[in-house]
Amino acid sequence: MDTLDQTLTPHTNSELDLTAVDEIVARHQNERGALIPVLQAVQSHYGYIPPEAAARVAEGLKVYPSKIYGVMTFYTQFYLKPKGKNRVMVCCGTACHVKGSDRVTRRVLDEIKLSDGEDTTEDRFFTIEQVACIGACSIAPVVVVNDKVHGKMTPDKTMRELRKISEAADE
Ligand code: FES
Repeated sequence: MDTLDQTLTPHTNSELDLTAVDEIVARHQNERGALIPVLQAVQSHYGYIPPEAAARVAEGLKVYPSKIYGVMTFYTQFYLKPKGKNRVMVCCGTACHVKGSDRVTRRVLDEIKLSDGEDTTEDRFFTIEQVACIGACSIAPVVVVNDKVHGKMTPDKTMRELRKISEAADE
């Protein structure tokens, strides 16, 4: 079995309810360029694009699974695995890099224990991502926590933000 089959073959969760996918596909059925809006809607429903859903989209829109896989892996907006409840993006663009974003990343990765090659904690509480410039270079280094932009971040300030989130969840 090749990578494509492994990615799109519905073998991981045969119980997944695909009704939403069918509805989304039906809404966009005769549109040109429907694939990206359909994948966005599917992701918005499940929080990522499960392989079963991708296979159903391929079937519904009558496009090759290889095309779907190509689109999902080309655009960084699409997630092939579930993300954590809290998303932390550390900017690693040039300005942030010069101002020490590496130290922030290292500290976060040291403290938030992630399995090898994973960006999301096992309990799916945090997802840590390194992203390209988000256009806020004047306040570098920048960390985005759940869509809130934090500027002039240090490793300590970043960890304080993450602890606040953990503590709020414990209350
Ligand atoms: S390089 Fe980080 S915001 Fe521009």
